[in-house]
Amino acid sequence: MTPPHLSQYERDGFLVLPNFVNAEACDALRARAETMVRDFDPNGLISIFSTREQTRTSDDYFLESGDKIRFFFEENAFNPDGTLKQAKEESINKIGHALHDLDPTFDEFSRTPELKQLVDDLGLRHPLLLQSMYIFKQPRIGGEVTCHQDATFLYTEPLRLVGLWFALEDATIENGCLWAIPGGHKLGLKSRFMRARGGGTRVEILDDKPWPEEKVQPLEVKKGTLIVLHPLLPHLSRENRSAKSRHAYTLHIIDASVDYPAGNWLQRSADMPARGFA
Ligand code: FE2
Repeated sequence: MTPPHLSQYERDGFLVLPNFVNAEACDALRARAETMVRDFDPNGLISIFSTREQTRTSDDYFLESGDKIRFFFEENAFNPDGTLKQAKEESINKIGHALHDLDPTFDEFSRTPELKQLVDDLGLRHPLLLQSMYIFKQPRIGGEVTCHQDATFLYTEPLRLVGLWFALEDATIENGCLWAIPGGHKLGLKSRFMRARGGGTRVEILDDKPWPEEKVQPLEVKKGTLIVLHPLLPHLSRENRSAKSRHAYTLHIIDASVDYPAGNWLQRSADMPARGFA
């Protein structure tokens, strides 16, 4: 990272780095994710969506996923009777949240000297790779992700978090690229998403002013681009109604020196603590 990179990150709250990853590495990750989906048996999960226990069981499936590899469907994947509208391969929204620790292909992609250096340049001297997600943004049914800050979901005190977003395919307005509010990271944290006492989750509102969404800009990028996201940057992505997918991989890294609250939704079991780049 050059000084201009760092000042741009400070000014805008994000940084676009084209050609950070080569095409072969993108394709290897894609092939691995596709194999995982092919091997995944959705029957047990589909039942979650067709029982009255829906909220509780789907909450548990999500809340326990911090140190596992789990599959999450697109919201629009189902017919009213609980069957899938499209093939399984075109119905998964994302895989999360410990791919980088549990799968060798993801481990290799996530723990490179280039990434270690980049995170160090951003001031994370004792990095811990906390969360990974493979996001499919499926053709036709790829869901919207509303405007948010990553620190809402992964809060640390002090705030020492970096989000890395890798385009594994070209991302365009048509297939649901990222959008961001440049400089919006200076507006402060709006909310926290936390575990609720007694189960489930809750949102604590810290500032209820709406986002200045008229300032949002599309980040159309080529395959292999890395977008570095400040934890307070407001960003979103729109629905994908096109016939093209928009695969991306995200990694969230914190510093070991900060306090990681027990109220954060993502928790790792004691026998599988978050690790650095080694
Ligand atoms: Fe995000």
